[in-house]
Amino acid sequence: MSALFLQALKGENASAAPPVWLMRQAGRYLPNYRELRARYDFLSLCCTAELAAKVTLTPFDYFPLDAAILFSDILLIAQAWQRGLYFAEASGPIIDKPIATQSDIEQLPSLEVALGAVESVFHAITLVKPQLSVPLLGFAGAPFTLASYLIEGKSSPNLNKTKQWMMSAPHSFHQLLEKIADFVIGFLKGQIAAGVDAIQLFDTWALHLAPAQFNEFCLAYLEKIMAALRSANVPVIVFCKGSSVYAEQLATLKPAAISMDHLADMPKMRKLLPQTGLQGNLDPSVLFAEKKLLARQVQALLDVMRGDPAYIFNLGHGVLPQTPLAAVQQLVELVHGY
Ligand code: CP3
Repeated sequence: MSALFLQALKGENASAAPPVWLMRQAGRYLPNYRELRARYDFLSLCCTAELAAKVTLTPFDYFPLDAAILFSDILLIAQAWQRGLYFAEASGPIIDKPIATQSDIEQLPSLEVALGAVESVFHAITLVKPQLSVPLLGFAGAPFTLASYLIEGKSSPNLNKTKQWMMSAPHSFHQLLEKIADFVIGFLKGQIAAGVDAIQLFDTWALHLAPAQFNEFCLAYLEKIMAALRSANVPVIVFCKGSSVYAEQLATLKPAAISMDHLADMPKMRKLLPQTGLQGNLDPSVLFAEKKLLARQVQALLDVMRGDPAYIFNLGHGVLPQTPLAAVQQLVELVHGY
């Protein structure tokens, strides 16, 4: 197995080039993914083990990335909790029955029932693992971000409902976060048992929180999850939009790496956090630049992180659906050729 990615997560990459993988590397910018999506809806791809395994491999038809990420979605919890999850073609995820009251929280299915509903994910891991020559990442959403979807019922620009609940009834909001954290811990333990080599936690919407709120509603639950996984000895990467702002707090979790949003100045981050793995952080829109400009921007990031034994090349957020395939190809070649 190509070990570059896991070596970087241990801070031990001795080769000149960093490992590279991309958030949303399996997605609509890939012709073979679009072909599968023409035949199956998104949730069927996520929830049919054979299909999820197949989609996980789609980017490897085009480029030799250094890690695979299991094809799935952080919102499967909404399906496991029977809240009517579906993905509308134009508007993204919809949760038909958002969580709205304290009694909604009390009536959620048991952990056992909810974990039973995501068993296809564990099966997909066992199917894809033997077909990979690189490490496999498992993942989950973090409690605050998942709570925001479960409450808003869709992607929201400001999380108004979520933040109103959080501030007006913090006790029941914490109760919801606890229940989500318990699900995430069970879900990740199942993924580890099925064979993933590393984990990434997505707390995408942390950027909406002020520092004290971040500590109370994001960091505390990330800490709970990290503590529960510690004995499994699997490296954990944490990602937020806002990781550039909350990098020092995230480092207290002692993650194997922090995935930096595109706002972070990487050399400054390295000075601030000499002991933590760093992943990121090319702005996904740079992949729309013409060849020479793209090469310059990738080169600039490679140059400032040159020789860093704990650096993983990635974007600051996921690959956008309209991204030209040739740009991703060029990026991977530039990183590997460094
Ligand atoms: O390749 C990979 O990165 C692995 C698979 C993966 C997906 N979603 C596939 C997906 C992962 C790790 C995610 C995480 C995820 N999902 C996050 C956290 C990361 C982030 O992007 O901030 C969030 C917030 C979601 C929720 C979600 N899923 C949204 C908001 C959307 C709609 C937006 C969009 O891009 O369409 C999805 C759908 C989704 N998840 C797609 C993919 C490939 C597109 C669905 C399609 O094929 O139509």
